[in-house]
Amino acid sequence: MSFQYLNGRLHCDGVDLQTVADEYSTPSYVYSESILRRNAQVLKDCFIDRGFKVSYAMKANSNPQILKLFRTYGLGVDIVSAGEFKLAQKVGFRGSEINFAGVGKTLTELDMALESEIDYFNVESRFELDILETRAAVFDKKAPVLLRLNPDIDPQTHPHISTGLKQNKFGMGPDKVHHILTHPQDYPHIKFDGIHCHIGSQIIRPDPFFDLISYLQSFTSNLASAGAEINQVDLGGGFGVNYQNPFEDILKTTPYLESFADAANEKLSQYQLHIQPGRVLVANSAILLARVLGTKENGGNHFIVIDGATTDLIRPALYGAYHAIYPHIQKEGSRLFDVVGPVCESSDALAKQRELPELETDDLLTIASAGAYASSMGSTYNMRPLSPEVLVTREGKSKLIRQRQSFEQMTALYL
Ligand code: LLP
Repeated sequence: MSFQYLNGRLHCDGVDLQTVADEYSTPSYVYSESILRRNAQVLKDCFIDRGFKVSYAMKANSNPQILKLFRTYGLGVDIVSAGEFKLAQKVGFRGSEINFAGVGKTLTELDMALESEIDYFNVESRFELDILETRAAVFDKKAPVLLRLNPDIDPQTHPHISTGLKQNKFGMGPDKVHHILTHPQDYPHIKFDGIHCHIGSQIIRPDPFFDLISYLQSFTSNLASAGAEINQVDLGGGFGVNYQNPFEDILKTTPYLESFADAANEKLSQYQLHIQPGRVLVANSAILLARVLGTKENGGNHFIVIDGATTDLIRPALYGAYHAIYPHIQKEGSRLFDVVGPVCESSDALAKQRELPELETDDLLTIASAGAYASSMGSTYNMRPLSPEVLVTREGKSKLIRQRQSFEQMTALYL
């Protein structure tokens, strides 16, 4: 099951998207429970069953129903803020199932995580280590830490989501990491337990991952020879998906998962291995369902204006990202259109120069691969309420898993 045309109309797991639009209005995100489960099962088979720990990077999509579902497959969570931490706890993740990443953490956040005895902190700088040492001393605890190494490996992805190059703000260079891990006595309240790397996101070619594994093999063996204690290696996230063919199965969109796991197990066999995938678990599980407000032509450019916008899916505007677009009623494409939202910015486009059929006011249109970094990056710019999220269950029922934000909720903070 998946998103597919049945009798020329796009369905999600047997449910006609017209019925979802009728019931919940538009724009709305529509998720397939069967795809979410399939993705979690594949990660379990490829990684957990090979001895890895898998922490879902909940920044990709933090809907509690999705978090709960993933937890049933044995996934933990990778969090980056107090908000994510509290939400993870609220849905039932225990401290031991949480790791805390991020380039800057506040005192309150560090204290919160120390109190809850999380699995480990991913620490990216000396300043954070110093603060964590002080706070751990106050709590009379040893804070478990994996140092984030910046290996200077090019992930060959969009510059905004490259993190493992030496000029990026993330992690610490190999010399610093080496020095700290061979002088653990400088930090009596830190339990240095290993290394973390996350080189970037939406990594399509497997080579950067294999380079990372080889790099870590020699880096950790040098460290071990120098007397450092290393028990765990966290290889981060970054597995890319195929935005061109959004309804393909995860093992087709991301075919290298098993070989990555095997290579890591072979070269880093003495360590407890972790990964922190986000996108690959959720990207293909949802579409953004929108309604055509009208069409227009300006200076030879043809536009389809829809009620969804960059406030629902900012990726095309922010990274020039491609998201496939399908009309609800299957028709052959007839001309090139820009698909744009109502927001007052020229960058408010979901797609540019796409071959699409002539559509009319009130026709439905879907923007694919809207499960990752879509609702979680949503905003209320132009005073547009956050859009609802609908889950189509395995039984073929649609269920609201996030309401449309009301005007009162959107304006509640104004004094
Ligand atoms: N671990 C760390 C430390 C991260 O910073 C990230 C993502 C992940 C894991 C998960 O990466 P993933 O498996 O999802 O690639 N908004 C961008 C993506 C930003 C990724 C930020 N960090 C986009 O829409 O493409």
